[in-house]
Amino acid sequence: MSSKPLIVYLAARGFEQDLLDELRLHNVRVLEVKERLVLAEGLFHSAWAQNIWLEPFFQPITSVGNAVRTLKSIQRNWKLHAVDFHRRAALIEQQLPPVKAKPLVFGESAPTSPLGSWTLWDHDTLLVSATCSSAFPDGEVRFEEDKVNPPSRAYLKLWETFTLLGDGPKSGELCLDLGSAPGGWTWVIASLGASVFSIDKSPIDPRVAAMKGVDHCLGSGFGLEPQTAGHVDWLFSDMACYPERLLGTVKAWIEADAAENFVCTLKLQGSTDHAVVQAFREIPGSQVMHLSCNKHELTWVNLGKMRRRAA
Ligand SMILES: C[S@@+](CC[C@H](N)C(=O)[O-])C[C@H]1O[C@@H](n2cnc3c(N)ncnc32)[C@H](O)[C@@H]1O
Repeated sequence: MSSKPLIVYLAARGFEQDLLDELRLHNVRVLEVKERLVLAEGLFHSAWAQNIWLEPFFQPITSVGNAVRTLKSIQRNWKLHAVDFHRRAALIEQQLPPVKAKPLVFGESAPTSPLGSWTLWDHDTLLVSATCSSAFPDGEVRFEEDKVNPPSRAYLKLWETFTLLGDGPKSGELCLDLGSAPGGWTWVIASLGASVFSIDKSPIDPRVAAMKGVDHCLGSGFGLEPQTAGHVDWLFSDMACYPERLLGTVKAWIEADAAENFVCTLKLQGSTDHAVVQAFREIPGSQVMHLSCNKHELTWVNLGKMRRRAA
């Protein structure tokens, strides 16, 4: 018998193969795949998992009522991720206590009460995990969107990042936003009261450029020299660029001790380069994640306090 724990990975939508490839590269043995659910031996915090069921077990059931009693006896809050036996799963779900489904208003904290996940693996067997890596149902964060002010939907990436971190730029902090047009990220940062030096080859929305604390400059995000640019509290990059080039740039900023915190999008073209993702992950104190609104891209986060702790 393997000494590695049983784990269930929920692949980010459309990135099942990326998850399987990353698990293979990290010696996680896949036992079975059902749609986006991957049953495996061994825990690896894959960037392509939207949620990870950390302590899954199989539970035989004799009836719908028996399944409901079993789940309720473990804890209150459950998220069904059905891959089969949809009608029977729905009958069980209907009898479980409701879980708050309202979208989050930005600024609210992530939920703190435990949310378990379950599925009907076969007609008479639940696959259940009371603990999961994400506090959100299926790891997806939904917000009450602002359809008026931000000039692009990219602002949702920063809203989600700051909510997951429980941290973000504060009033008076200095931020660099590389690849900022049309201005969604700059809008979020300025809305939090921080100062933003916003750089793109294209102009940003004039309403964002006019916000208090925003200074926009036309140019390349790779043109700034970290040794001479001065220290920033946060360096953001959503530049459409090769991840290898971004890797060299963030390493230079870290080496020069010129930026405290980083939030950068890794834009992955064609087939995913797992080696470059791993190179970002290996920078001490890093997290690499697939946000709910990320497409074929990942978000790399590196906070100074985590970097120093990990070094
Ligand atoms: C996905 S968009 C950024 C969206 C932006 N974060 C927002 O919230 O609206 C990518 C941007 O990267 C910019 N870009 C690509 N290469 C760049 C470079 N070398 N320097 C600066 N900007 C760059 C593009 O002009 C484009 O505006």
